[in-house]
Amino acid sequence: MSNVEQTLSIIKPDAVERNLQENIKKIFVENGFNIKIEKKIKISKNEAEEFYKVHQSKPFYNELCSYLSSGPIVVMILEKDNAILENRKLMGATDPLKADEGTIRKKYGISIDKNSVHGSDSVDNAKIEIDFFFKS
Ligand code: CDP
Ligand code: MG
Repeated sequence: MSNVEQTLSIIKPDAVERNLQENIKKIFVENGFNIKIEKKIKISKNEAEEFYKVHQSKPFYNELCSYLSSGPIVVMILEKDNAILENRKLMGATDPLKADEGTIRKKYGISIDKNSVHGSDSVDNAKIEIDFFFKS
């Protein structure tokens, strides 16, 4: 049975700064993801705080929001069968040091905070995150 899903992917400032967006998009396409829409934007700290509000009680929240708003990012809607889980697998663990071989974070992540990509973690959050960036 097919279960086509959409998930939100972000190429974070550390990766855009190193001009890795085409390399990362190629990995998604090679792994069967359809990039439905993408845009390169820079968000404000307030917008980053809203986007990451599930983490507002965490010690890294302030730095995380400063970082996500520190430079251009590429936001994309990715579509594939089981896209949410498949994207999480392809991204690898949050900490690049713990990420498996062949994952995006293993290949490009610099550190647990500068880990190159974001991906939605559930069906509900994918919808919320897609609406956050693409609701007209
Ligand atoms: O991005 P992912 O869903 O794998 O991890 P998360 O636990 O939802 O954390 C969101 C983001 O916060 C991570 O991708 C990191 O950029 C950052 N973070 C951090 O800076 N320090 C940590 N100890 C954990 C997460
Ligand atoms: Mg997360």
